[in-house]
This record gives sequence, structure tokens and C-alpha cells, in this order.
Amino acid sequence: MPLTVKRLGRTFFAEVSGVDLSQRQSDATIAEIRAAWMEHGVLLFRDQKLTDEQQESYARRFGDLEHNLRDDTRYVAPLGNLNPDGTIRDPNSEQSRFLRANQLWHTDSAYFAAPAMLSFLNGRVVMPEMEKGETQWCDMLAAYEDLPQAKKDEIEDLIAWHDMQTSRKVTGRKLDEVEREKWPPVLHRMVRIHEETGKKIMYVGSQATCVVGWPEAKSRKLFIELMQHATQDKYVFEHKWSQWDFVCWDNRRVCHRQRPWDEAKYPRVMYRSTVAGTGPDVIDGKGVDEYARFQALKSKARESVAAE
Ligand SMILES: [Fe+2]
Repeated sequence: MPLTVKRLGRTFFAEVSGVDLSQRQSDATIAEIRAAWMEHGVLLFRDQKLTDEQQESYARRFGDLEHNLRDDTRYVAPLGNLNPDGTIRDPNSEQSRFLRANQLWHTDSAYFAAPAMLSFLNGRVVMPEMEKGETQWCDMLAAYEDLPQAKKDEIEDLIAWHDMQTSRKVTGRKLDEVEREKWPPVLHRMVRIHEETGKKIMYVGSQATCVVGWPEAKSRKLFIELMQHATQDKYVFEHKWSQWDFVCWDNRRVCHRQRPWDEAKYPRVMYRSTVAGTGPDVIDGKGVDEYARFQALKSKARESVAAE
């Protein structure tokens, strides 16, 4: 059965049908999905009943995976409001406040020098009667392209600190000493070059803390201005979850946030896998041309296949 790709958003977000991701896909199908992904930024596959193993093996087709934030041995992480025994967790617990930062606009793993490339989320525990709890994505490419040229010029060469503590401050969760050491602030370009499309895209989010060389207040004003621009309705797509929806997005292009829901009443667990970034976008304080690096990696991979 051929793949069908239907755009649901104005500038991005498409639904893909005609594929069962629990089965191993051919290289041609993976290439087709990847091409659709690069065009639409976010892909929705409905009714994908995946086990951890199936989700992991599908995600690995797109690159190396980040391991679970809390467990170095796992690559599929449950994100939700259930305790290990299946009861609903106290919404005021440390873990709930840590995860509530997902309700702020962000890209995944901005706290790594090589931030996440792609994310996969499988809605395994979703109650049909649950109200709210949608996920929203905004198209940072379309938003960047619509910026006035003067603003594009202003941010072109800026580099900013991103810090996990910055978003957790908002949700009232201070990083402990071990976490602080594990996830120190990192630098990212404010305008990154997309590795696969070569397009310029602004990179901001709730972990953006301070532009290098700028006072904090001036930096914050710029971050707010850019995010207010990027999260206008015309750049945002909201998805209401059904059980077994599988949504995959490109962190190099979009920001996302989870909308609140009644956490004390409805269980909700999404299983996430993440393809790791291929390298830092800032080295020795200077911005990297990520497109050039990715193309070099691709041709190196082609050469080694040819030599086998
Ligand atoms: Fe996220």
C-alpha cells in the first residue's frame, strides 16, 4: 500500500497513512518518510500500537538515539503522570513539576550542546474522555522567513546560552546538585542552518537564557519578542490526541508544548524516543555550518558503503 501524505497545517504538519510502523520498513519507505518529514516538519501516524522495541527499532532508522534522561539503558521514555505501580502521581510532586516544563514552548534537549534532531511520541495511555492535554507545534521556519530583514540581520550571528534551569524556574523546580552538574548551560546559535534543507531557522525556546555579550533583560526582551511572533495562530498547529497516535517532529524546525490537563483525574502517558543531534552548533564560541557538516557526514557514509 503506498504512503499517503496529507498536509493538515497551513505551513507544516502532515498526516501519513498507509504504513504500519510496528513492521520493519524498506529503505525506500524510510527515505519517503524522511522526505515528507523534511517538507512538513511534523508527521502524524494514527493507530500505531508500538512496543518499546518496535518504537526503538523504527526510530533507529533515522539516526543514533538519545537514551532516557533518567535511565542510561533505555531509549524509550514514558512521559506522563503515572507512578510505576500505575496509580496517578501527585501533580505537586518533584517529578510532575520537572515534567511541567514541557508545557512551555521548547525544542527537545536544548540543554545538550548537540540538541536533539528528531522526536517521536506514541500516545499509549490516552483516555477518550480526557479534555485538553493537546500538543501544539509552531513552525519556526515560516516564522523566521516572515521576519523583517532588519530583524533577521540583527539575530543572524547571535549566540545564546540555553539552560534547563531557566524553564524549570517557571514551574518551581530547582535543579539539584547532581542535575546541575549533569546539564550545565550550553550555547546555541539563534539562527541555525538546517542540516538537511540548508534553510535558516531561528532557534529559541523556554531554555534560552541570555545572548552572549548582552544584558539579561535585553536578551529576555528579544526572546519574548521572537516567541510571541513565532507562536501566532498562523504558525501553530494543535493536535488532540487519540490513543496510539504516533507523532514525529523535527526539532531543528519546530518548537512544541504540551497543553495542561487535569493531571489528578486523567492518566496520560506518551512514550518518547529521540534521535540525537549530529554535533554542536557552536564550537569554540563560533557558529557551525550544520548543513555543510551533515553533507560531509552523508558523503563519508556513502563512501564507506561503497568500500564494503
Ligand atoms: Fe518536548
